[in-house]
Amino acid sequence: MAIDEIKLIRPDDWHLHLRDGEAMNAVIGASAAQFARAIVMPNLKPPVTNLEQARAYRDRILAALPAGSDFKPLMTLYLTDNTSAQQITEAAASGVVHGVKLYPAGATTNSDAGVTDIRHAYPALEAMQRTGLPLLVHGEVTDSQIDLFDREHVFIDKVMIPLRKDFPGLRVVFEHITTAQAAAYVSGAEEGVAATITAHHLLYNRNAIFIGGVRPHWYCLPVLKREIHRQALVQAATSGNPRFFLGTDSAPHAQRLKEHAIGCAGCYTAPHALELYATAFEIAGALDKLEAFASLNGPAFYRLPVNTGTVTLRREPWTIPDSLPFPGDAIVPLAAGETLQWRLQG
Ligand code: NCD
Ligand code: ZN
Repeated sequence: MAIDEIKLIRPDDWHLHLRDGEAMNAVIGASAAQFARAIVMPNLKPPVTNLEQARAYRDRILAALPAGSDFKPLMTLYLTDNTSAQQITEAAASGVVHGVKLYPAGATTNSDAGVTDIRHAYPALEAMQRTGLPLLVHGEVTDSQIDLFDREHVFIDKVMIPLRKDFPGLRVVFEHITTAQAAAYVSGAEEGVAATITAHHLLYNRNAIFIGGVRPHWYCLPVLKREIHRQALVQAATSGNPRFFLGTDSAPHAQRLKEHAIGCAGCYTAPHALELYATAFEIAGALDKLEAFASLNGPAFYRLPVNTGTVTLRREPWTIPDSLPFPGDAIVPLAAGETLQWRLQG
């Protein structure tokens, strides 16, 4: 008999975009209702590049939380060509910063200030290796000669493997992996390598972007891949391997900027994240593996305590809203208008 209720230790989101200001006010309640903590991405305009900015951003997040919420933002710094070893040492000691994000310059939304050549970041990476502060990697090369769908795969050989050779003690999260090659690399890598996987990459392949016409709400980076890659990601997420854990990459953009001639990359999944993951795990026949993926493996990697308390999902069909409020516009959640079988109990 199919089960009708899932109880999980309170989960965390190990990769989240909360934005800032009015946009943050519109989305933060959704993540706080789903997760106890989140690793908050630093790709604001301008990016969060130092401890002082991370502290100030954290204060703004805490001030924007709904009354009574105990949601904890775990801050990150945006690695640039100029990040110094001293900045890393201070950030690692602060207890506020839990990772440093590597965006190859130009790889995705607000990544212009990213690293132009990884060698420029070597002093900072040495300090991260020494202090144990993890490097969170957007793993795509930016070379326009490389096919868009191959950019993650090529990144492994061109950047990841040489980087791990030069810094064998560096702790690395390969963020939002999308390919069989990345899943295999992380499974087989040395100690200290982990990966996050989004709900949308577990549920959809690249066909979703083109069903009956261009569907911009399914466009994100790294872009959805072929079905064989989706299957490899499901296998990794449900394998019980502690290197794989939950990271939504919920990336809110106003509706008009998604439904645009040059639509922004990012899927908004914060309001129904756990429901989407539960759907993917149920299809795989692996609901018993969801708690480790959502609530245990992330804290173990980040050397943080597991949350106390639980959340409950019930089998209770509901329809994802067509749109939600967003400043000056609306926001369209991923799979808007579709019915989910699981619902998080409030
Ligand atoms: C993210 C965003 O909008 O900030 N977009 C996305 O498609 N995932 C940036 C990112 O994580 O690549
Ligand atoms: Zn992201």
